[in-house]
Amino acid sequence: MPPPDEVAAAIRALSRPRCAFVYDLGVLRARAGLLRSALPRTTLLYAVKANSHPAVVRTLDGALDGVDVASSGELSLARSAGARRIVVSGPAKTDALLTEAAAAGATINVESAHELRRIPPGTAITIRVNRPGTGPQGSHRMTGVPTQFGVDPADVPSLLDLARAHHLDVQGFHLHAVSNNLDAAAHAAFIRDALTWSAAQNVDLRTVNVGGGLGVDYTGNAAFDLSRLAVDVPDGVELILEPGRFLAADAGWYAAEVIDLKRTHGRWFAVIRGGTHHFRLSAAWGYSHPFTVLPIDEWPYSWPRPSVTDVKVDVAGELCTPRDILARDAHVTRLRIGDVLVLPRTGAYGWDISHHDFLRHDHPEFVILDR
Ligand SMILES: Cc1ncc(COP(=O)(O)O)c(C=O)c1O
Repeated sequence: MPPPDEVAAAIRALSRPRCAFVYDLGVLRARAGLLRSALPRTTLLYAVKANSHPAVVRTLDGALDGVDVASSGELSLARSAGARRIVVSGPAKTDALLTEAAAAGATINVESAHELRRIPPGTAITIRVNRPGTGPQGSHRMTGVPTQFGVDPADVPSLLDLARAHHLDVQGFHLHAVSNNLDAAAHAAFIRDALTWSAAQNVDLRTVNVGGGLGVDYTGNAAFDLSRLAVDVPDGVELILEPGRFLAADAGWYAAEVIDLKRTHGRWFAVIRGGTHHFRLSAAWGYSHPFTVLPIDEWPYSWPRPSVTDVKVDVAGELCTPRDILARDAHVTRLRIGDVLVLPRTGAYGWDISHHDFLRHDHPEFVILDR
């Protein structure tokens, strides 16, 4: 999938050695619009953790109903973006985060009794529950298996009692369950089940937050079929979805110049200005991220330009570890030192989950296209 012309032009316009994330705000708005049309009676928040660039946060807050944050840093970002609605998640909330969230009028997704006791009275909360059952399959799961997220369903009645005694405003439940699920029908079944289970609890139910988890296919052409996601929401209940990946992944391109080409023990390596300290997802998840070659004709050196044709290459970064690999066994028809590799679908969990300062190389540039 070659980058759109505007993205390619933005990459060509970079100074050498080229290395950048390009984020397209128009794509963010389009993704938000798709979700909005598929789920008209649903509150849609953006999970800031997927991509916390201020322009991305501002755009998605503007296109949707607000944001989901997971730290004091994300909370202050959301506030400076002017977010109209904020919910706060995360398994290790500090006293400071709880106080700031309450003061900001955010809804807090409570993950334990100790956390609940530290929330100022009067604050709106939902209780995050790790429910049993199969749930949708995705790249990894937060519930249905032992994890640090949420409370055990057996503890819900005592937590509700504690919340009432503590004068908290219990709105309902938070049931985020999975990451990167591509099966929309299974996701709809999970949401229906979440609504049914929540209605059966001893609470004046106003909110059911089913989190994110809508998937994108990094290595193939499968798509999350939004037409299969429709669910009936009971009157008086607000259904909240808070996706990150689905909204932001397609809006980002990671571009990195080929600094060297070499062959060792029969394998070709394209070594780039960049690497897993900028885009760690494929290494973390153990897949090979697709890319296209953006040819760059300028060649500033006096010697012949090294190039390969019709070979398979591994794409390695600039770090001093053999694990700094973004793609393996990728076929290239022609690749020269100085060309730029462009990795699409890198707008979510790219820069934000990577170890930026390992080796202290320069950070990439960030280019914002507003189309
Ligand atoms: C509480 C919560 N909500 C929403 C999300 C966003 O999930 P996704 O990007 O898979 O849609 C996450 C991701 O980990 C999360 O932890």
